[in-house]
Amino acid sequence: MESDEIKAKRSVTSRIPTGIPGFDEMVEGGFERNSVVLVAGGCGTGKSTFCMQFLYEGAKRGEHGLYISLEERPEKIKRYMMRYGWDLNELEYNGELKIIRIPPEDILHVIKEQFSVIEDVMREMNAKRVVIDSISTLHLLIPDSGERRKSVFKLCEWLEERDCTSLIIEESHGGFGDETTSPIEFLMDGVVKIYNIRKDAMRERAIEVLKMRGTDHMTKLAPFKFERGIKVFPKERIF
Ligand SMILES: Nc1ncnc2c1ncn2[C@@H]1O[C@H](COP(=O)(O)OP(=O)(O)OP(=O)(O)O)[C@@H](O)[C@H]1O
Ligand SMILES: [Mg+2]
Repeated sequence: MESDEIKAKRSVTSRIPTGIPGFDEMVEGGFERNSVVLVAGGCGTGKSTFCMQFLYEGAKRGEHGLYISLEERPEKIKRYMMRYGWDLNELEYNGELKIIRIPPEDILHVIKEQFSVIEDVMREMNAKRVVIDSISTLHLLIPDSGERRKSVFKLCEWLEERDCTSLIIEESHGGFGDETTSPIEFLMDGVVKIYNIRKDAMRERAIEVLKMRGTDHMTKLAPFKFERGIKVFPKERIF
């Protein structure tokens, strides 16, 4: 259940609850409406799960979600997400969710055309939550870091101007520390990092809010587990 404190804070800023158990407590009840948040982490840490859960929970609340895959095929994504008990086919059938794939050879064209292909889909389905999985594909397509940053900036600006709340996935190396690992983080309204941390012969999963503009967010790493998606334990400590 949501605490009175969270409810009071949410009434000041318009917030979008992720619906991910335990996570909203870390960010004053949810992401700010219309914000663009980076979800970064190493391989297999749970980035896609986190983002699909954001859309799945959104659909339950009447907010339609668009998942834009720049790599994996929608059928494969849906198959893996079935393991969490999420029937994405049903959501798609009801028009509450759409998974589209933009193949690598088309991405530069989509950017050049000011994302009009995405705009059409968003308008048609009235998307209020958008996920892009993952922005790291741009590393191969735009090797120059300055040019790449410009494209990501353009994308963020474009998303902010739409009536939606967006998550952008970035693949980062698995380590954790104080340092910002990607210049893209500076462009975002928020940065969420997901880890699979090794200590001796054990690994533990953890999630952290590195930044969230305009939000008094939690600053510690919170452990999580996979249980019908992701379940965060914000009051517990890792290890
Ligand atoms: N049903 C499940 N129960 C427990 N853990 C699971 C389950 N399904 C997936 N996982 C864990 O989640 C990981 C994959 O999650 P997900 O695809 O969201 O990660 P990702 O960060 O997007 O991965 P990638 O870097 O490959 O894109 C698996 O490697 C596995 O460790
Ligand atoms: Mg993934």
